[in-house]
Amino acid sequence: MKAIVLNKPGEVSELQIQEIAIPTIQADEVLIKVKAISINPVDAKTRVGKGVYGRIKNEQPLIIGWDVSGTVTETRSDRFKVGDEVFGMVNFPGHGKGYAEFVAAPASHLALKPVNISHQEAAAATLAALTALQALVHNANVQPGQKVLVHAAAGGVGHFAVQIAKQLGAIVTGTSSAKNKELVLQFGADAHIDYHNYDWKNHPEEFDFVLDTIGGSNIDLSIAVTKKGGTVISIPTGLSDEVTEKAKAKGVNGYFILVQSNGDDMQQIAEWLEKGIVKAHVSQTFKFDDIAAAHTQIESGRTTGKIVVTV
Ligand SMILES: NC(=O)c1ccc[n+]([C@@H]2O[C@H](COP(=O)([O-])OP(=O)(O)OC[C@H]3O[C@@H](n4cnc5c(N)ncnc54)[C@H](OP(=O)(O)O)[C@@H]3O)[C@@H](O)[C@H]2O)c1
Repeated sequence: MKAIVLNKPGEVSELQIQEIAIPTIQADEVLIKVKAISINPVDAKTRVGKGVYGRIKNEQPLIIGWDVSGTVTETRSDRFKVGDEVFGMVNFPGHGKGYAEFVAAPASHLALKPVNISHQEAAAATLAALTALQALVHNANVQPGQKVLVHAAAGGVGHFAVQIAKQLGAIVTGTSSAKNKELVLQFGADAHIDYHNYDWKNHPEEFDFVLDTIGGSNIDLSIAVTKKGGTVISIPTGLSDEVTEKAKAKGVNGYFILVQSNGDDMQQIAEWLEKGIVKAHVSQTFKFDDIAAAHTQIESGRTTGKIVVTV
């Protein structure tokens, strides 16, 4: 089969298509013939030796990518049969081996793809959607009527976070540049902030929950607009000790989370997708042999919704 192998960390040219053996499945795994893969910032971070590179660097061949949708061709699990169409985030934060024609995946990381969405849309609703779900539901336990601020609401995690927060009954503000305002409102945000022209210092301490997708000084401004007793989750790299102390002094819970593969959460996402409560916005699709262009796009920091590679 064809796979995109990372021989050493570096530029996009280090992602090379190679012919390798189809993986063998272990107990409780299925083999997926992949139809679509979604691309995340962590793919590019890992490619350059950051992200989760340290956890997988000794594995050969090293194949990055975690978000897949496709058809089961072999199974050693009671959960799925041959012919089932499945999607999920495979083995994150470990070795997903997602950039390949066939992927061996623990059945416990997958859900059945809703029949009313494409493989591209399904692949898009994996790592980014799981991150939003795990932050809003499992960690922050967002309740109806609470005020939620989602930074980078036009991006991969942000656009799912807006939709999930609305589904939970929250009042949602999303940030983006002015050109993406309409998109953010379409995702369901009640209010929009253009972060290029905004005076955060005069914003009230009104939010019960803030999802920080930017990091750095954005964490400080997020804490400043959060109510006492509220929560700020920062997902790019986490909070320094100093910022954690600042949050604590204000009575705000501030912390980092790392998304984890989880089939039950995928099942929840599948239900929302099936009902049309949550939709993946796929802004661009790339061919398998054009993976370099997909990485260049995700590294731009300007992606709207999700980008997907078809296999
Ligand atoms: N810890 C975890 O488990 C976890 C999981 C998923 C993602 N992450 C991290 O979270 C970050 C976001 O991921 P993602 O997939 O959402 O990225 P993404 O899709 O690449 O985000 C792109 C979006 O960011 C917006 N943006 C850029 N700078 C902004 C700013 N200062 N304020 C508001 N919006 C801004 C852009 O909108 P404009 O063009 O309008 O500026 C664009 O739509 C990445 O660092 C990623 O690695 C962590």
